[in-house]
Amino acid sequence: MEDVTSAPFRRICKRIAGPGLVFTEFVSAMAHHHNPRRAIEKMKLYDDERPVGIQIFGGDPNVMAEAARTCEEMGADLVDINMGCWVPKVCRTGAGAALLKDPDLAVRIVRSVVRAVGVPVSVKVRAGWTWDLFAAPDLARRFQDEGAAMVTLHARFAKQGFEGQANWRLIEAMRKAIQIPLVGNGDVKSAQDALRMFRETGCDGVMVGRAAISNPWRLRSIVAGVKGDPDPGEPSFDERCEVALEHLRAMIEEQRQAPRGRFDPEIVAVRKMRGLLPLYIKCVPGSAKARLALSRAESYKEVAEILGRLREEQEPSADAVAR
Ligand SMILES: Cc1cc2nc3c(=O)[nH]c(=O)nc-3n(C[C@H](O)[C@H](O)[C@H](O)COP(=O)(O)O)c2cc1C
Repeated sequence: MEDVTSAPFRRICKRIAGPGLVFTEFVSAMAHHHNPRRAIEKMKLYDDERPVGIQIFGGDPNVMAEAARTCEEMGADLVDINMGCWVPKVCRTGAGAALLKDPDLAVRIVRSVVRAVGVPVSVKVRAGWTWDLFAAPDLARRFQDEGAAMVTLHARFAKQGFEGQANWRLIEAMRKAIQIPLVGNGDVKSAQDALRMFRETGCDGVMVGRAAISNPWRLRSIVAGVKGDPDPGEPSFDERCEVALEHLRAMIEEQRQAPRGRFDPEIVAVRKMRGLLPLYIKCVPGSAKARLALSRAESYKEVAEILGRLREEQEPSADAVAR
């Protein structure tokens, strides 16, 4: 997920939730073509997050092949092609979900990427562009014929954005169309949801997006539930804060390694995290003021102080519970 699944967060998820396949933020193949050094920053992988896929997007088969080769050089266990992003800035370039409207080009892209690399290639699609055409099954069959190793279906149409409920019956229908592994995606928020998706659709894997943002413990519960283990439950308040700060420290470190001209790495990282930090404490009662402050923070010290103050405010109620 763009601006979410950076290396620091992926590594935290793996440590807390355990095994599972994670993906990088999507990387523009065209941006990689024009400025590989910058694009490569998002492709940096670590051994403790494996298996990990790098996701690329683009509308030109040769440019996509070029980017895929770099993914392989960067050590990707899998190259994933994005055909699910519906946002205009991506679709205007003929990439993302726009490819659902141009099946022949979509197939040429998959062919070109499969031929370019030795690692498995997967494709993430939506059901189609608009409600009147469930294009994904035919397309996925053609991707399979071209050598794609896996397909993920986000069970919404591109024109829907994130509106309405994901329609898991589309995943069920897709299951019948292809023989390669199918990952279902859309509105899985708990282990019960994941188990129900497996049961109702026959999919081979379940992908979790929004429910995991700043919430690796949710992933932990889902992984445990799917394995048939007891739910490890929610983290303590202190653990939430420690992991939020760990995430921020790692983001600052990433920025230090990839300096942006005159911008201070700490400020860049803190600003990048402004949308994510408040979500770590979203479920903590009485945290509204702290969340607002986190969304405006300018330094690591300030973030630590905000969380420390909230800790102090929490203590009386924690004592009361203990008594
Ligand atoms: C902030 C955000 C960024 C996203 N970025 C990507 C992306 O880069 N690539 C991708 O395939 N999907 C991306 N998605 C879509 C999710 O991967 C997922 O398909 C979608 O959120 C539905 O799953 P969910 O209901 O579990 O969230 C993004 C979603 C969000 C909310």
